[in-house]
Amino acid sequence: MATLLPLLFLLLLQPLFSIANVHKLNQLRSELISQSTSLNATSPTLYFEVTQPIPVPPTKPCSELILQHDFAYTYGKPPVFANYSPPSNCPSQNFSKIVLEWNATSKGRQYDRIFGVWLSGVELLRSCTAEPRTNGIVWSVEKDITRYYSLLQKNQTLAVYLGNLVDSTYTGVYHVNISFHFYPAEASLHSYDQNVGDLASGHHSWADLILPISRNLPLTDGLWFEVENSTDTESKEFEIPRNAYRAVLEVYVSFHENDEFWYSNPTNEYIAANNLTGTPGNGPFREVVVSLDGVLVGAVWPFTVVYTGGVNPLLWRPITGIGSFDLPSYDIEITPFLGNILDGKSHKIGFNVTNALNVWYIDANLHIWLDKQSTRTQAQLVKHASLPLIVSVVSDFVGLNGTFVTRVSRSVSSTGWVKSSNGNITTQSIQDFSYLNTMVMGHDGNLQTVDQTINFNDTVLVKLPSSYVHSLKSNKTFLLSLYTDLLEQEDGTYLYVTNVDLGFIEKKSASGGSRLLESSLSNLQNAEGNMVVKNNLVVSGVGNTQELYRYHGGKFCYFRNVSSSNYTILYDEVENTCHNKAKSNFDFVLRRLGPFGTGFI
Ligand SMILES: *[C@@H]1O[C@H](CO)[C@@H](O)[C@H](O)[C@H]1NC(C)=O
Ligand SMILES: *[C@@H]1O[C@H](CO)[C@@H](O)[C@H](O)[C@H]1NC(C)=O
Ligand SMILES: *[C@@H]1O[C@H](CO)[C@@H](O)[C@H](O)[C@H]1NC(C)=O
Ligand SMILES: *[C@@H]1O[C@H](CO)[C@@H](O)[C@H](O)[C@H]1NC(C)=O
Ligand SMILES: *[C@@H]1O[C@H](CO)[C@@H](O)[C@H](O)[C@H]1NC(C)=O
Ligand SMILES: *[C@@H]1O[C@H](CO)[C@@H](O)[C@H](O)[C@H]1NC(C)=O
Ligand SMILES: *[C@@H]1O[C@H](CO)[C@@H](O)[C@H](O)[C@H]1NC(C)=O
Ligand SMILES: *[C@@H]1O[C@H](CO)[C@@H](O)[C@H](O)[C@H]1NC(C)=O
Ligand SMILES: *[C@@H]1O[C@H](CO)[C@@H](O)[C@H](O)[C@H]1NC(C)=O
Ligand SMILES: *[C@@H]1O[C@H](CO)[C@@H](O)[C@H](O)[C@H]1NC(C)=O
Ligand SMILES: *[C@@H]1O[C@H](CO)[C@@H](O)[C@H](O)[C@H]1NC(C)=O
Ligand SMILES: *[C@@H]1O[C@H](CO)[C@@H](O)[C@H](O)[C@H]1NC(C)=O
Repeated sequence: MATLLPLLFLLLLQPLFSIANVHKLNQLRSELISQSTSLNATSPTLYFEVTQPIPVPPTKPCSELILQHDFAYTYGKPPVFANYSPPSNCPSQNFSKIVLEWNATSKGRQYDRIFGVWLSGVELLRSCTAEPRTNGIVWSVEKDITRYYSLLQKNQTLAVYLGNLVDSTYTGVYHVNISFHFYPAEASLHSYDQNVGDLASGHHSWADLILPISRNLPLTDGLWFEVENSTDTESKEFEIPRNAYRAVLEVYVSFHENDEFWYSNPTNEYIAANNLTGTPGNGPFREVVVSLDGVLVGAVWPFTVVYTGGVNPLLWRPITGIGSFDLPSYDIEITPFLGNILDGKSHKIGFNVTNALNVWYIDANLHIWLDKQSTRTQAQLVKHASLPLIVSVVSDFVGLNGTFVTRVSRSVSSTGWVKSSNGNITTQSIQDFSYLNTMVMGHDGNLQTVDQTINFNDTVLVKLPSSYVHSLKSNKTFLLSLYTDLLEQEDGTYLYVTNVDLGFIEKKSASGGSRLLESSLSNLQNAEGNMVVKNNLVVSGVGNTQELYRYHGGKFCYFRNVSSSNYTILYDEVENTCHNKAKSNFDFVLRRLGPFGTGFI
């Protein structure tokens, strides 16, 4: 996506066919789109991503339409711009929540397209469009953008890049409205605000300054950097004020073309041994490495977002894949490194991707907190350790059949102090990652299964002058289980079976003295589908998806259990009270996740 090419490179997913069949598979995708969009529907279908509602105060928001645009011939053009100014006729200028709302409609046939929304170069949203149908679709994405508060207080330029192309076959135009909703603060602090997320992201206060670590207004694309291969480092120079006391780098990442399904890429040995020229390889491990003046300061092991046309587009209608409408961003605490960059000089943040193939879209926002009581802070990096990646690959294959087990781990730790009017505060930041990917190729390469787990512990310890220690901890597990099988049948048709289990489990805690806030979130999807293909035409297809979302945040809880089949919602249960219900369903989903199922409850 974001290119002329479709997302669902069936052939990339599995080197399943002999080379002669590769072209057939390319055509398969367009036929599939044609078939599925010709199904009858009476009114536009509402597509959605399952997530919890954004907690907002009970005040009336001041809402502004920021941009209205029809994205048709925008591929390879500059982004679309709009002027932003803070709400002027709002009764209050003190907001406790600011929400971005993306609303879009489309009709006809179109690929899924990646897009980004930036405010003066700071990325606010990375997302993927839904694929339309002949009777039309609508969808909406809401994102809490309160953390960009300081930016939203001044006039800025909004930029949106969504590269689309319309022709007689791919007729879908994306009609888009972007609005911001400003919720005035109430007189006193309310419980909606007291969750770990808010505490973890800034102790109830937002950065005073946010610097864009993105490309300067490109003429033909988004503001993201494009990392094209494993030796490509993209970087940006920046300068920070000399009175900074905290810094967090928020990284946005998406992967495309040869690396769209990086977690299913076979090893180069397998590709070479089987003469699979043109099949994307480099194995299934990827890591985004972030450097400051050439020194590794942190890493991102990304969640395996499947875009709306990925694996089997029928799986993502109308329940879209986790993260596809609102790709996650990843925070790296770089406060320990402030001592290296408080000199008023220019410094450089760089991104590279281990094993990358073309192409990764990466940029970042540098959130900086300033000491209002002084013009200078003092700081020093005390300790920094980043051990080299530990990689083990065990492969065993004969011809196109085989098993490949890849294990990787990494640890990055840094400690530094910053002396400001808040006192002399020592911050320690620790990232611990582990990765396991088991890939099996069977049926002479027509069958592929991928089971992948990423475990990530992220810890920030803040030691105050009083020796009082604040800690922010998060423990994330990203799960993916992919099954694709292509079965040739007697009458010259093929059955293409595609099952995807996708999800994450995240536990966060924030503690300071006697206070402890904890939250847990598990979000798991099971999607099963198939397509029957005859003479390159999809003669039938089905997609069934179920999703279980469970958030427990102390005072606020949210639970949703929803299922769809062929565009129809079969059931949809929502609860927002905090008690332990539907545990049996939860167990059920975990069991379905196979080898990862146990141990995460
Ligand atoms: C689609 O709608 C047309 C016209 O309303 C009808 O004739 C046709 O049978 C419908 N097709 C299906 C698959 O429901
Ligand atoms: C956006 O769409 C949603 C549902 O599709 C609707 O409820 C909402 O009012 C729309 N918002 C705007 C600003 O048009
Ligand atoms: C911000 O933009 C508004 C609307 O375009 C304009 O009236 C105002 O003068 C601008 N303010 C500044 C400080 O530039
Ligand atoms: C905004 O509201 C919050 C919560 O009521 C209050 O703590 C804060 O002081 C207010 N800020 C301003 C600038 O008025
Ligand atoms: C990697 O990508 C960079 C940036 O496009 C390019 O300059 C370089 O030649 C590429 N390296 C290889 C080995 O292809
Ligand atoms: C790969 O190509 C080489 C050279 O053309 C040939 O000798 C070999 O048999 C081929 N291997 C397979 C598995 O097709
Ligand atoms: C990526 O960046 C890190 C940190 O600067 C560096 O150690 C590593 O060598 C880079 N990787 C490549 C392939 O250039
Ligand atoms: C801040 O605290 C650290 C650790 O206790 C100490 O090494 C450093 O000298 C202190 N810095 C200043 C400016 O006092
Ligand atoms: C994260 O922490 C838990 C508990 O301390 C540990 O079991 C797990 O191995 C850690 N994961 C990583 C990747 O370090
Ligand atoms: C690959 O596995 C299939 C069964 O899944 C078997 O029929 C075939 O002979 C195997 N091919 C090789 C080269 O071993
Ligand atoms: C979905 O479509 C398939 C193929 O047309 C059909 O077999 C299946 O019963 C449908 N599912 C539902 C719930 O209608
Ligand atoms: C983190 O998650 C892993 C895997 O789910 C688990 O083994 C570990 O106990 C967890 N650690 C903490 C501190 O919750």
